[in-house]
Amino acid sequence: MSPAARRRPFGVVTRGTTNPNRLRRVDNWIVASCADRLLAADDPLVVDLGYGATPVTAVELRARLAAGVRPDVRLVGLEIDAARVAAAAPAADPPGLTFARGGFELAGLRPVLVRAFNVLRQYDESEVAGAWHTMTAALAPGGVLVEGTCDELGRLASWLLIDAEGPRTLTLAAKLTTLGSPAELAERLPKALIHRNVPGEPVHALIRALDDAWQAAAPYATFGPRQRWLRAVAQLRETGWPVLDNPTRWRRGELTLPWPLP
Ligand SMILES: C[S@@+](CC[C@H](N)C(=O)[O-])C[C@H]1O[C@@H](n2cnc3c(N)ncnc32)[C@H](O)[C@@H]1O
Repeated sequence: MSPAARRRPFGVVTRGTTNPNRLRRVDNWIVASCADRLLAADDPLVVDLGYGATPVTAVELRARLAAGVRPDVRLVGLEIDAARVAAAAPAADPPGLTFARGGFELAGLRPVLVRAFNVLRQYDESEVAGAWHTMTAALAPGGVLVEGTCDELGRLASWLLIDAEGPRTLTLAAKLTTLGSPAELAERLPKALIHRNVPGEPVHALIRALDDAWQAAAPYATFGPRQRWLRAVAQLRETGWPVLDNPTRWRRGELTLPWPLP
């Protein structure tokens, strides 16, 4: 491969759709779940890969990590689209927040954490494993990739925590005040899972069990959707699903399980 080809970022330009606060659910989870890794790092470098037409969600992630984990966090927003890198420049706040051109190879950076949201959704399912491998191979030792999908306003979201060995956990998250039923989350599964929501697949069984638990918890709706969700999560656990975390996370409309699912 020629040096020029080697320098070309891995991936393709896709739609740049984004929205302020769209990624707040995953950001809050990252602050709670990845703080230890960031606090232990000599260089608390984070990459937001594929920030889109405006850098707003990269700006927000940096602010949330700086406020919630450590003020010296360094966030680099990487985009494969050079025009989007140029457009983001006015939002830069070096050294804590910068923007650069890059793809799945992470532009030679060695971050502790990568967030790649609504990026792989526009790729073919067959490209997912290679993209995960390229990104995790570029991480600092012990680093992680958070890869997922959400709807336009961030009311329905899901993500995988992935390390050098592969996916470790799956999280589903919803704005409970607008959630009709947990089955709605099926449309916003990570690319690797969206076509696996079919009978016989563990993720299908999970969403079905969560939906059944939500229906069974209908009487709790009197006390609000949060109580109903908490009851549904409790039922999931009672029926043997290895639900992680604790009510502090669940009450936010989150559910995290180890991956692979049983
Ligand atoms: C739908 S936007 C997502 C924006 C933001 N992350 C969000 O969730 O709101 C996807 C962006 O990913 C970028 N992208 C696609 N493949 C990429 C790659 N391999 N490396 C870096 N950026 C990529 C696209 O150019 C696009 O701007």
